[in-house]
Amino acid sequence: MNRPIDVAPGRIRPRRLRRGALLRAMVRETRIAPEQLIMPHFVLPSANGRQAIDSMPGIERLGRDALLEQVESDAEIGVRNVLIFGLAGEGEKDPVAGAASDPKGAVPLAVKEIKKRFGEDVLVITDVCLCAYTDHGHCGFLDDAGRVLNDPSLEQLTAMAVAHAEAGADVVAPSDMMDGRVAAIRDGLDDRGLTETAILSYSVKYASAYYGPFRDAADSAPGKGDRQGYQMDSANVREAVKEALLDVQEGADMLMVKPALAYLDVIRAVKEATALPLAAYNVSGEFSAVKAAALRGWLDEARVVRENLHAMARAGADVIITYHAREALREGWL
Ligand code: PBG
Ligand code: ZN
Repeated sequence: MNRPIDVAPGRIRPRRLRRGALLRAMVRETRIAPEQLIMPHFVLPSANGRQAIDSMPGIERLGRDALLEQVESDAEIGVRNVLIFGLAGEGEKDPVAGAASDPKGAVPLAVKEIKKRFGEDVLVITDVCLCAYTDHGHCGFLDDAGRVLNDPSLEQLTAMAVAHAEAGADVVAPSDMMDGRVAAIRDGLDDRGLTETAILSYSVKYASAYYGPFRDAADSAPGKGDRQGYQMDSANVREAVKEALLDVQEGADMLMVKPALAYLDVIRAVKEATALPLAAYNVSGEFSAVKAAALRGWLDEARVVRENLHAMARAGADVIITYHAREALREGWL
């Protein structure tokens, strides 16, 4: 070992800074603030209703009335950023996700009510994707052979984003992974004078088994096939940088890496390659895995959640989307 000659053994002791809670807090390198967290919500197309999601304990699909109550009590504890996912109404799914752009659909109605009640006190982000509204469950249109058609899908994705923005969404977040959708959505918004609506692009979204619980929640699993033809291969990191840089060129305001915990190196790579704010999506399967173990008493949930949040922030996430947001703030886990 190469020790400088004048440093006596034992002179430098890193443990001095770990001696007490105040000292540790003072020199802590990473802090998570409530403003960085985003709480996802699954909203029903009805005013009423509350449905548990078996694979996501503590998370429910909410009708608008329950959603407003939840958003209000969350805001009181500091959860002020929400990400809204919509569910299709009974018999509303079709091959081209017609209901996705309905101004009276689950998302526009919920957004309108949230903005009316909370105004600038709650930031509303909406997920833009067709899979909860297509009868085949894919994120874009299909050809006769069952392949996802890129360019024809852009129009409906844009119409969906416009419907959300017109309802008052502050930010739209396309998660479909079609090429060119950020540019198409930006043009569509700007053409209608919606120049202030920001785009948080799911730039780097992997084809992941960690989305399993979400697909139960949003009823958005593909009927046939999988999403590997449009979502990314978990083996790739240079491709993540390519996707992120493309979204920067297309006019994205913020970028995202998803999932988060199995892709910390990707978060770091994208952070270093771009100058936009970066979100990490701590996805449903990551939440449910922790929850399941915690419910069996196998893990200390508070400490595991805190560690995971630190990991994402250390890797470079400026913003973290997590189903643990409410509990983390309510229980003081940060
Ligand atoms: C829709 C969408 C998905 C997620 C966010 N938007 C599912 C998917 O792509 O299959 C996953 C979120 C989560 O697992 O928490 N395309
Ligand atoms: Zn989708």
